[in-house]
Amino acid sequence: MAIPKKNQLVGLDIGSHSIKLVEIDHGKQGRVLKNFGQIGLPPDAIVEGSIKEMEPVSSAITSLFKNLKVKNKNVATSISGYSVIVKKIALGASKESEIEAIIQEEAEQYIPFDISEVNLDFDTLSAGAEATRAAEEGGQERAEQMEVMLVAAKKDIINDYDNLLQLAGLSPGVLDVDAFAIQNAFEISAEEPEGCYALVNVGADELGINAIKDGVSLFTRDSSFGGSQITEGIMSDFSVSFEEAEQIKLGGGKVDKQKGRLEEIFTSVVSEWTMEIKRALDFVASTYPDETIEKILISGGSCRIPGLQKYLQLETGIPVVELNPFSNLVVDEKRFDPRYLRYMAPQAAVAVGLALRSIGDK
Ligand SMILES: Nc1ncnc2c1ncn2[C@@H]1O[C@H](COP(=O)(O)OP(=O)(O)OP(=O)(O)O)[C@@H](O)[C@H]1O
Ligand SMILES: [Mg+2]
Repeated sequence: MAIPKKNQLVGLDIGSHSIKLVEIDHGKQGRVLKNFGQIGLPPDAIVEGSIKEMEPVSSAITSLFKNLKVKNKNVATSISGYSVIVKKIALGASKESEIEAIIQEEAEQYIPFDISEVNLDFDTLSAGAEATRAAEEGGQERAEQMEVMLVAAKKDIINDYDNLLQLAGLSPGVLDVDAFAIQNAFEISAEEPEGCYALVNVGADELGINAIKDGVSLFTRDSSFGGSQITEGIMSDFSVSFEEAEQIKLGGGKVDKQKGRLEEIFTSVVSEWTMEIKRALDFVASTYPDETIEKILISGGSCRIPGLQKYLQLETGIPVVELNPFSNLVVDEKRFDPRYLRYMAPQAAVAVGLALRSIGDK
């Protein structure tokens, strides 16, 4: 569907390791990749989704916009981790107009923060929409329970992101959640988006899991695992700087003598992540015994850690495939090197998902 230019947003994924930017033109030709780029951040500027140092992050964003010559100042960005809670809750069937009040009242029991410290948002899920209709048409007796996806985001984190964007001369159009951005990227790139899948994103500081069925999220969880664990392990074991450790991790640097130690770090982290993912998928399997997860779509820079995809597939018995968010975009290969896009694809999932959002969509 074409989106008027004035409503288009720049997808800006502010990760703890790097910031990724994607622009998509939604025109007659379909979805055309207009811009893509990324810029690294110093290791302590953002920690687990919370901005510790505004200035370096804001100047990185400014440089990225300048380098890529991006004109549009309206952005879609996202939060994740402990600053946001995503939960599916069941309510008695209610009219659309009443849901908000009910949620305000009931949210307290689902959220481990003071309710005055969070912004609440919700989305009625498809079964819920039917229940709402039933409640509106025939009163409560015809309606059953309805399901609502509740999203609670900490106000201070939202403020930090607003301030950061303002400092960078940008204006916030949409504030999304990483898990939902990835879900949107999956939906436009999948050959068969209908079905039951697990979307797993392994970044630098966060490991996100989202089990979906026919485009609806069943369960999400973010944990504090990611590639930084490996970088930090290398820094302390090999007494090297952050930059050197990153290089060693990606296969550079001279580590001949300590190759065994490096492999040990990979193995222990990979098995820790796999256990975490397996625990979440076991929980999904026991909560939804009729569903079978067909595939694990993996994204995030750390999905490329040697051995992870194979081991995860072996341990879960579910095929593991890398998510390529660019696969169904129209790409001018003279502007974007296909090999570079293929290499960066897993890291670009959130930013592509964000670039699919527009002002006023829902
Ligand atoms: N080819 C690769 N092999 C292994 N690790 C990689 C590779 N490329 C990137 N990484 C690692 O992936 C991480 C960055 O991934 P990503 O860009 O998804 O994270 P982020 O969005 O910045 O962080 P987060 O979402 O956790 O806050 C870093 O730890 C980086 O070292
Ligand atoms: Mg990320």
